[in-house]
Amino acid sequence: MGGKLEELKRLEAEVSGCRKCGLWKSRTRAVFGSGSLQPRLMLVGEAPGSQEDREGLPFVGAAGRLLTSLLLSAGLRREEVYITNVVKCRPPGNRTPLPEETEACRPYLEGQVRILEPGLVVALGRVAASVLLGRPVVVAREHGRRTGCRFAGRSFSLFLTYHPAAGLYSGGNRSSLEEDFRKLGRLLRARPRTPSCPLSPPS
Ligand code: URA
Repeated sequence: MGGKLEELKRLEAEVSGCRKCGLWKSRTRAVFGSGSLQPRLMLVGEAPGSQEDREGLPFVGAAGRLLTSLLLSAGLRREEVYITNVVKCRPPGNRTPLPEETEACRPYLEGQVRILEPGLVVALGRVAASVLLGRPVVVAREHGRRTGCRFAGRSFSLFLTYHPAAGLYSGGNRSSLEEDFRKLGRLLRARPRTPSCPLSPPS
């Protein structure tokens, strides 16, 4: 556990001084990620918004509050998961990150996946799903499903859903998001938790 914390801290320090794309010029703080070092799952969003940029934490604005309640509907508390974004600095005006920005930031997400070794990752929206799967994703076609994913030399299950911001607007995808997170909850209940400390050594 100590090793993971040290490794994450080292990576976070790198991210806070990163100048690999132009986003460093307008950031207040880079947003590395937060949560459990032994997460029941990892959630990957797109990029920080204005409140995240000010606080240095992921999903603390309006979309974050919705995410917290969606997680609760799946039987998860935020402390049990790890939350991060594909891009660690806020794009001006909350625009979608450019391909060169997601590419520049990819090694940081790869590092987080290598360190935390999640068995299950939830992609929040098109940008996260496309980066993790390495192909264009139409979320409307693939949401609510789990698929195998290989990223950063690791294999894990990837669950696809909409970005929580899509549930904030009327006419948005709130009911699909709610249904997806209920499905995620069922999936987790069907999956035994990985014990943090095995009760007996493997035979
Ligand atoms: N949207 C994201 O994709 N990530 C955040 O951290 C906040 C809003």
